[in-house]
Amino acid sequence: MIVVASRNGNVGIRQAMAVLKAGGSALDAIEEGIHHVESNPADHSVGYSGLPNLLGEVELDASIMDGRRLASGAVGSVRGYEHPISIARKVMEELPHCFLVGTGAERFAAEMEFPKKDLLTPEARRIWLDTLNRNALGGVYRERTDYLDKIREWVKKSADPEKYTGTTNFIAMDARGDIACGVSTSGWAWKYPGRLGDSPVIGAGNYADNRYGAAACTGRGEMAVNAGTARSVILYMKMGMSLEEAGLEAMKDLWAVQDPYAGSMNIVALDRFGEPAAFSNQKTALYVYMTEDMDEPVEKARTYVPMTRQEWEKERSERAEGSERTAG
Ligand code: GLY
Repeated sequence: MIVVASRNGNVGIRQAMAVLKAGGSALDAIEEGIHHVESNPADHSVGYSGLPNLLGEVELDASIMDGRRLASGAVGSVRGYEHPISIARKVMEELPHCFLVGTGAERFAAEMEFPKKDLLTPEARRIWLDTLNRNALGGVYRERTDYLDKIREWVKKSADPEKYTGTTNFIAMDARGDIACGVSTSGWAWKYPGRLGDSPVIGAGNYADNRYGAAACTGRGEMAVNAGTARSVILYMKMGMSLEEAGLEAMKDLWAVQDPYAGSMNIVALDRFGEPAAFSNQKTALYVYMTEDMDEPVEKARTYVPMTRQEWEKERSERAEGSERTAG
């Protein structure tokens, strides 16, 4: 049994493992683990206290996938509910659909009797407002045309959700060997209202298939959407690659995405044998995992894959020169 998570999952990984040890399913474990991140007021990228969109509304996205039967549930742009991961799970279990957004998702959450909650904390509101004011946009953001004029500059200045510890990923394998994967986020801070990233998009930010493994992403969601990143990891394993090779290949695919806002991209993954791995285009990024025989989770470095082919080649030639000098 194992639980793998993005680093901010450290607040919930022990509880997720406890669910597995008590005989719970991989789905139960990731839902439990993600709840703790969604409720963490110090994490401004997920759930309660997530940073809001440009209009000051906290909009949450989440998805869950059951690797036993390739079933999924997802919600996008949900306001007023602390645990979008549980709404996503209900979508998977109760509806003939797999993806609800906006008012439809909120209506469904109310029907399922999830409690309503004001998610905008004073701290998140202060960060939101300070940043708007610092960039002299406080007065203009409600004008759509002004917003569109400024978005290029604005997004570069302000909006990397990784700065606020950025989205959560949980993958679990239970005692039966079943795999599930979940992702939850408040998305790109100061985003255009209604914007969805990779987190609720199955294949982009989340994928699980018992036959091969699972993968999930954090970072600049638009890149993972355009490259189909999570599904790519699984497909590369299907084609015969090891998990390490598959993750590397999926990261390299991102080099072809011509994105003027390109930023951090990170993958956590698990293969069908229960081996974890993680990848990032940021040098110091970590992930966390816990197996059933560990008392505490471990944080480990992700495999670093630079953001561009040029940087990758430069790194490799510097490394080769370094080892030549050592050998000489
Ligand atoms: N990866 C989270 C997002 O882009 O919304």
